[in-house]
Amino acid sequence: MSTQKRILVTGSAGRIGRAVVAELVSRGHHVVGLDVNPTSGLPSAQSVVASLTDVDALRRAATDAAAIVHLAATPDDAQFPRGTPPNDGDNFLSDLVPNNVVGPYQIMEAARVLKVPRVILASTGQVIAEHLTDGKVPVTPESPLRPRYLYACTKVFLEALGRVYAREHGIEVLAVRLGWCPRAGQEEEFRQSPFGKDVYLSPGDAGRFFAAAVAVPKLPPFAVVYASSRYVHRHTFDLSSARELLGWEPRDQWAVGSGQ
Ligand SMILES: NC(=O)c1ccc[n+]([C@@H]2O[C@H](COP(=O)([O-])OP(=O)(O)OC[C@H]3O[C@@H](n4cnc5c(N)ncnc54)[C@H](O)[C@@H]3O)[C@@H](O)[C@H]2O)c1
Repeated sequence: MSTQKRILVTGSAGRIGRAVVAELVSRGHHVVGLDVNPTSGLPSAQSVVASLTDVDALRRAATDAAAIVHLAATPDDAQFPRGTPPNDGDNFLSDLVPNNVVGPYQIMEAARVLKVPRVILASTGQVIAEHLTDGKVPVTPESPLRPRYLYACTKVFLEALGRVYAREHGIEVLAVRLGWCPRAGQEEEFRQSPFGKDVYLSPGDAGRFFAAAVAVPKLPPFAVVYASSRYVHRHTFDLSSARELLGWEPRDQWAVGSGQ
């Protein structure tokens, strides 16, 4: 099998997407990005500007892909826990359902119909958030789900969806519970977090993680792994399954890459 592959990266214009695209391109892969915003670092013919809910555009972009790296999502809650009425809006129906529930469904459907053999789904450490606040660490893929808010509930759905499509349709699905790669505007929240530096994920480690997930010849039908950079104080994410399945090891530690 050729080591250079056609890879669809969704959410390719985002914080993690840009790092993943750069790493895959540097390894010689033919990368197609799909995002509602143009993807920097790709020729315009390989930067599909479309939503996940545009099924035709998504399927054209996914045609002949050896793998889909699915990152596109609304990456957090807005205003949850909810305020007092009338200030009790959140982004569940407006953003989380179309982007994080319907979107992954369309990804798995595209993989099924087009026979894409591997899908790597971006989940989050927020699906086990209670363990972090309770100090029940290191968390493993077997730790009981303890979602933080509604965004985390959509990622629980994403993981379940991946398991079902893997079992019923023979697609290799890897769900990765990503650590925290702070986006612009999250600096203060990150600084105040008691565990932020221990779950920090540098853009470089994120890029190398997804490149390893694309390159490994064989994966189990379905697996959950964690991905973070090296912890600073407390061992928080058990990275052994990523190490064993992908041969991936983080190189960085907070604050390498935080200014990128
Ligand atoms: N950054 C983190 O700390 C972190 C932690 C855990 C999980 N994640 C997950 O990693 C992924 C990437 O997160 P990020 O931090 O890069 O977020 P980001 O907001 O920087 O990037 C997300 C990208 O997805 C695109 N997008 C959203 N909805 C879309 C749609 N319907 N169709 C097409 N494109 C769409 C956005 O335009 C954006 O470019 C997400 O799935 C997020 O939930 C991120």
